[in-house]
Amino acid sequence: MLTVSEISKLQNLKTPFYLYDMELLARTVSEAMRQAALYGLEVHYAVKANADERIARYIAGMGAGADCVSGNEILFALKCGFPAEKIAFAGVGKTDEEIGIAIDNGIFSINCESLQEMEIVNGIAGRMGKKANVSARINPDIDAHTHKYITTGLEENKFGIPQHEFDDLISLAARCRNIDFNGLHFHVGSQILDVEEVFSLECRRVNEIVSYFESKGLAINNINLGGGLGIDYDNPDAHPVPDFGTWMKTVAEGMKSLPGRKIHLEPGRAMVAQCGSLCTKVLYVKHGLKKDFLITDAGMTDLVRPALYGAYHRIENLTAEGKGRKEAVYDVVGPVCESSDVWGEGRKLPESFRGDLLAIRSAGAYGQVMASRYNLRDLAPAVYLDRLPEQSEQK
Ligand SMILES: Cc1ncc(COP(=O)(O)O)c(C=O)c1O
Repeated sequence: MLTVSEISKLQNLKTPFYLYDMELLARTVSEAMRQAALYGLEVHYAVKANADERIARYIAGMGAGADCVSGNEILFALKCGFPAEKIAFAGVGKTDEEIGIAIDNGIFSINCESLQEMEIVNGIAGRMGKKANVSARINPDIDAHTHKYITTGLEENKFGIPQHEFDDLISLAARCRNIDFNGLHFHVGSQILDVEEVFSLECRRVNEIVSYFESKGLAINNINLGGGLGIDYDNPDAHPVPDFGTWMKTVAEGMKSLPGRKIHLEPGRAMVAQCGSLCTKVLYVKHGLKKDFLITDAGMTDLVRPALYGAYHRIENLTAEGKGRKEAVYDVVGPVCESSDVWGEGRKLPESFRGDLLAIRSAGAYGQVMASRYNLRDLAPAVYLDRLPEQSEQK
């Protein structure tokens, strides 16, 4: 909840901008790290969720590792203070150059997503005169009950090595002289809300797979179960800190029949979504015959989730807070020349006017990082709630 004085400072800033509540970030990350310590789990923050440098540095400083999906993310993670020995690198299409960056920096694990990729990594490491730390990303073929664009663990998805290649993987791992094979990696999907059901299913499947590999003589010392913990987009103030406890307890219970292995998790969304809001002003109020529109200065180029996944984000009118305005119903839309540039249809809000400041909530994950310059629009900058400029500095 923002104070009146914070809202009045924000009201004067040039919009749109991403507002980050660093105090909420701190509470969230410390809860994640506390629960992980309780259950002896390793946390690797999925940098793809938000690559704001201040946020990443904070998370690194709290002792987390990083999960990266490109060479540039690896270099960024190192710059932000994530130690190389805590950086995992996944991704179905790693280039030779990116593999070289990972090997050169001696990161914890390159998670190979195909047998061909593992051979390529072996070859590159050989030419560099180094050994590459490698895990195999496995496709567990389980349904995470989430949006089809963010489910990743089904046989039909492009991610990971499928079951029919397990025996070939075992012989390949034994043949690759320039690889230190250190474990298995899984990730079943994102925004998972059936936490106990989906993650205990994942653990059962992982137990079967690990047992299979070990019965064939391939030791699995590290088991990375990926990310995926969902957050409350409907009511962010009711659940500002996601339920890391249930997730980590479920995982620890599910993996206890495989003692002695290091268990890793890769939360992205759950770490950063709730601390971020996209702040935007109402440019126009348009009265149609059947409905009224609020047209904002932020659009799908700033936050693409609604246009890409039909994702719901709560919208609040900050300017109207405490003013007792009557309620009205609007389609809230952006300015971009695409019909999918819609924040929400039929949203109940206080009666709104040109210049009102709106907050599009829970936008800290997969928001600013996915921005584009389509329509040659400017990129929305970051503003930190604990560092709001004084009135005189404002534009
Ligand atoms: C391999 C991997 N790990 C972790 C994550 C982070 O997922 P989430 O943000 O749902 O926690 C992703 C997201 O796509 C991923 O692909």
